[in-house]
Amino acid sequence: MNTNKASTVSLLAVTAFLAASFLTVHASIAAEAYDADQYGPQEPIVWSTPTKATFNHQHHTMDAGLACDACHDEIFTMEQGATEKAGDFTMKSFKEGKYCGSCHDGSTAFDSATQCGSCHSAPENPIVFTYPVKAVSFEHSIHVKQGGLACEACHKEVFAMKKGSIEEAEQTGADAEDKREYLEKLHNKYCGTCHDASQAFGYLTRCTVCHIGVKGYSALQGGDQKKEENGESKH
Ligand code: HEC
Ligand code: HEC
Ligand code: HEC
Ligand code: HEC
Ligand code: HEC
Ligand code: HEC
Repeated sequence: MNTNKASTVSLLAVTAFLAASFLTVHASIAAEAYDADQYGPQEPIVWSTPTKATFNHQHHTMDAGLACDACHDEIFTMEQGATEKAGDFTMKSFKEGKYCGSCHDGSTAFDSATQCGSCHSAPENPIVFTYPVKAVSFEHSIHVKQGGLACEACHKEVFAMKKGSIEEAEQTGADAEDKREYLEKLHNKYCGTCHDASQAFGYLTRCTVCHIGVKGYSALQGGDQKKEENGESKH
């Protein structure tokens, strides 16, 4: 009984060892000789309009085992940038089963309405809101890296993944009596969904952490400040 068990265990160990070394050898051969004819271009395809997104052939052909004709030429032509020109290369189209969404529907592959960060990356530089006057600074790194928040925490309902969206949606023009209400609403709807003194510091307490002001804005611009000043009208 005991001997049997022991030999089963060692057999398993040997099998595991063989499997592991096979995989290692296999992986190192593959890494040395990536064959673009077999797997498609090695360089990732990167789109920048309307937002930045990345596609990797290797993940799809070599890793997921898809043949070229799973995508070419019915879903995508073999020309980087072609789809971008079609005008409907959007998340909405994916939801309708087009382009990436023909597989990324939650059954063939993960749903494109989840895991935004697999295809998109957060901007490195702070986003600065300047409408109407005071500068508000938002840093992705504080929220994503330090805070450990998923993209979806903000980009599903709170913010569009496009700089300038709040400013486009929220134009002041309110009379004096409505101003307080407007401001509460403005803050509550956006940053205040978390900055409510429970999930993160409350917006009613530390205005200047977000509102870095004209001076803070200039400091942030650093070397670019001169260029910016030349481009903008003088007050
Ligand atoms: C899962 C989908 C998918 C599969 C499978 C796939 N491709 Fe692609 N391929 C794309 C996309 C997306 C583009 C970019 C199209 C665009 O930007 O409009 C592309 C573009 C290309 C391009 C043009 C690159 C350039 O820089 O212009 C080549 C060449 C290419 N694919 C070859 C292949 C080959 C060879 C295979 C099979 C080994 C393959 N592809 C499999 C999705 C795929
Ligand atoms: C023909 C089907 C198909 C199409 C079309 C397709 N994918 Fe995929 N994709 C897959 C499969 C299968 C996987 C692996 C399973 C999974 O991750 O759910 C995958 C995985 C991925 C991953 C995860 C890779 C990793 O290992 O981290 C990313 C990112 C991705 N796809 C992006 C895209 C983008 C962007 C597009 C459109 C330009 C696209 N895919 C179009 C089938 C497809
Ligand atoms: C499977 C890959 C994939 C996933 C996952 C994904 N996207 Fe996209 N997304 C793309 C591609 C490809 C485009 C079109 C090309 C571009 O704009 O660069 C795009 C375009 C966009 C655009 C601009 C066009 C439009 O639809 O308005 C926004 C905004 C966007 N994505 C937001 C998101 C958000 C938010 C999530 C997560 C809930 C997400 N995406 C998840 C691949 C993906
Ligand atoms: C705590 C909230 C929050 C989280 C989490 C977050 N974002 Fe954002 N993101 C924003 C805000 C705010 C904007 C600017 C919206 C505006 O100007 O209206 C933005 C804008 C963007 C833009 C557009 C930039 C431009 O120049 O147009 C991209 C791309 C983006 N985010 C990607 C991501 C990705 C990818 C993740 C996850 C890795 C992520 N974000 C996580 C809040 C967040
Ligand atoms: C999804 C939740 C969420 C949203 C939405 C959100 N934040 Fe945050 N934020 C956090 C968390 C969590 C922290 C880290 C904990 C803390 O500082 O209380 C943080 C930290 C910060 C910090 C750093 C504070 C410090 O002490 O250094 C600033 C600045 C900030 N957020 C600004 C913003 C701005 C501006 C917006 C709106 C454009 C925003 N946040 C939207 C969750 C969020
Ligand atoms: C968590 C970040 C955050 C905190 C904290 C915060 N705000 Fe804001 N505030 C914003 C954002 C984002 C906007 C909208 C962007 C814009 O209008 O430029 C805004 C807009 C405003 C505006 C209208 C636009 C402007 O700049 O004149 C006023 C006034 C304002 N906030 C006052 C305050 C006051 C007073 C406090 C403190 C009691 C405060 N805010 C705390 C993020 C914050």
